[in-house]
Amino acid sequence: MDSASSTPVRKPRHGDELVCDVDGYDRRGWAVGRAVDPQGRAYRVRLRGAVPGDRVRVAVVRRRGERIDGTSVGHLARGPDLVESRCRHFGTCGGCSFQDLAYGAQLAAAHAAVTQALALHGLEASVDAVLGDPEPWHYRNKMEFTFAARRWIEAGEPEGVDADFALGLHVPGRHDKVMDVEECVIAFGEAQGIVRDARDLAREAGLAPWNLRDHTGLLRHLVLRKASHSDQILAYLVTSTEAATLVDPFAQRLCAHQPAITTFVQGINTRPASVAVGERDRVLTGPGFITERLAGLDLRISPTSFFQTNTRQAELLARLVREEALVGGSSPECVFDLCSGGGVLSLLLASSAGRVVGFEIVPSAVADALANARRNGIDNVEFVEGDVARELPAHAGGPPPDVCVVDPPRAGMHADVVRALGKLAPRRIVFVACDLAASGGDVAALVAAGWSLARVRPIDLFPHTPHVECVLTLER
Ligand SMILES: C[S@@+](CC[C@H](N)C(=O)[O-])C[C@H]1O[C@@H](n2cnc3c(N)ncnc32)[C@H](O)[C@@H]1O
Repeated sequence: MDSASSTPVRKPRHGDELVCDVDGYDRRGWAVGRAVDPQGRAYRVRLRGAVPGDRVRVAVVRRRGERIDGTSVGHLARGPDLVESRCRHFGTCGGCSFQDLAYGAQLAAAHAAVTQALALHGLEASVDAVLGDPEPWHYRNKMEFTFAARRWIEAGEPEGVDADFALGLHVPGRHDKVMDVEECVIAFGEAQGIVRDARDLAREAGLAPWNLRDHTGLLRHLVLRKASHSDQILAYLVTSTEAATLVDPFAQRLCAHQPAITTFVQGINTRPASVAVGERDRVLTGPGFITERLAGLDLRISPTSFFQTNTRQAELLARLVREEALVGGSSPECVFDLCSGGGVLSLLLASSAGRVVGFEIVPSAVADALANARRNGIDNVEFVEGDVARELPAHAGGPPPDVCVVDPPRAGMHADVVRALGKLAPRRIVFVACDLAASGGDVAALVAAGWSLARVRPIDLFPHTPHVECVLTLER
């Protein structure tokens, strides 16, 4: 269609088409570009289905002032870094929205995103090149699938097809519907077969999927984790009630079909919140955890403890943190590891420090960290269970740490943590950020409190997605 001749004099609205020149990405990984309407008015467009350098016809989804959200409905010219996407769900599943961008260009986009995030928070530092993943496919060691009573119907499916049971991933922006995942090019290889068998066996057994609208149904989530060193696989089935007479035979049948599963745990989540964490767990087969080796450490990983989802790159990340924390071969007397998860970074630093204290809120992660210290014969670490915003100020009166590692969740740290760090005044802070646009404010607050940002080292833990991990070193 000729967009210019069919677009009316009024400002663009839903369904209208414009031509858009794509020139970059925003911080959420949407492609962005510029379009001009027939009256010569310019708009900033945010869209899916295009890469920088593309010229596309874009269908307007919504407009706010001079900003338009849209969908690419056809290419007029292709950017130099556009590549074929590999996955059949690309475009529907929002999981890896950069899959159609050449990997080298993804790393360049990640570098630009880090630079932008620093500027957003008024921070200045030179940013190292992003360390890419040498094998950027099937890297995810953990997948969290959701059961739903409403299935997303994909383009091309016949009319009247069954849509009352799904096991897969949420379609972006549709928290009520789940797309059956038939393939995933970033998940570990066995995940595809396990999720397919789990879906078939659950349907055969007549087990009801969770219904988000009326909070009925049994099956809520299936989390799969694989340890790459031991090849062990953990299946964590989250249900709304215990229902052992239904769940136990299902678990047995799934394990019989998929002998690669080495442990099966049921988590029981009776609350309405759609989280893949049980209020209590039942171990149905195996030890209830998997074991992994990372950076020379022997680690156990339980269903709900944090572990980086890309094992190969997590090893590299751990090495960077170690290098930055122990710069010049220093041996700090005391190291604090804030948000220590299963203890990986604490344990890694323990051999070069007098004492390490980890702070972590999730009890199963603290239990893993303590068990991991024992497994590795490390006795100069301790772990404080609780909210670091409360626990760190309580430690501010004791012997101060020389080095703090800070590895908060995506949203960043509570202001009380920043204040407590100001009092503890470690000479060096190694800040690990998985979303610098969100947690850059914490880094800026530390700079305002007297540290200087010495180095930024980005690393790609999440190929084909807009996310990038960063190690930032602050010194005083
Ligand atoms: C990005 S992970 C880092 C884990 C660990 N450093 C690692 O490398 O495996 C963030 C961790 O912070 C923990 N966490 C989240 N909020 C917290 C809080 N308020 N206090 C303490 N820990 C918290 C999470 O449970 C998670 O284990």
